[in-house]
Amino acid sequence: MAESTHERIEKNVPLLIVLVIVAISFGTLVELVPLIFSKKMAEPVAGLEPYSALELEGRDIYIREGCYNCHSQMVRPLRAETERYGHYSVAGEFVYDHPFQWGSKRTGPDLARVGERYSDDWHRAHLYNPRDVVPESNMPAYPWLFDNELTGKYTAKKMQTLRILGVPYSDDDIAGAAASLEGKKEIDALVAYLQGLGTLIQTRR
Ligand code: HEC
Repeated sequence: MAESTHERIEKNVPLLIVLVIVAISFGTLVELVPLIFSKKMAEPVAGLEPYSALELEGRDIYIREGCYNCHSQMVRPLRAETERYGHYSVAGEFVYDHPFQWGSKRTGPDLARVGERYSDDWHRAHLYNPRDVVPESNMPAYPWLFDNELTGKYTAKKMQTLRILGVPYSDDDIAGAAASLEGKKEIDALVAYLQGLGTLIQTRR
């Protein structure tokens, strides 16, 4: 019996590899190219502002302390997630995040929409010792954030760098950065950052 084209391709491994690569590349391009050229992906959602000096320092403390090792910041468009956390995350919420903190590791809950869900006092108590407010919590305590003062030494430089990446900081924002942090502790910055997360799009409350 004569071999069908299908059989010939299946038995010719080099040819099969080449055709598989072509098929996968085509699929990838079809998904990727429209996203790269879609303006919607790079356009900020309505009301999005660059992080204030305090929030920006808070974000860097979040990264320094490794919060992302246990917390993602992306609500997926699945019923179970939107019921629990609120509206799914959209690209336009993250255009000023360099780098974004989406992640996928969830030892703790997703934090993409945690802003305004609790009071500042709750966050302070929780970060001082999570067990004081959530007895079964296995999140570490971060008491040193209450002692460390913000110096603001690099805040203006960070903002200048972010401006190169397209974050619209004004000259005034940058000039006033260090002064706006005077007398603030690291805990103030981290809580300010957390309270701003995901508040522009809310369906939960
Ligand atoms: C070892 C894993 C781990 C690390 C690291 C960690 N967390 Fe958590 N986090 C948890 C767990 C587990 C919970 C759920 C129990 C609780 O509320 O304490 C949680 C809860 C939270 C909540 C409440 C979320 C909600 O919707 O109820 C916030 C806010 C939070 N963490 C912020 C932080 C911040 C900020 C950091 C870094 C300074 C951090 N976490 C580091 C595990 C972690």
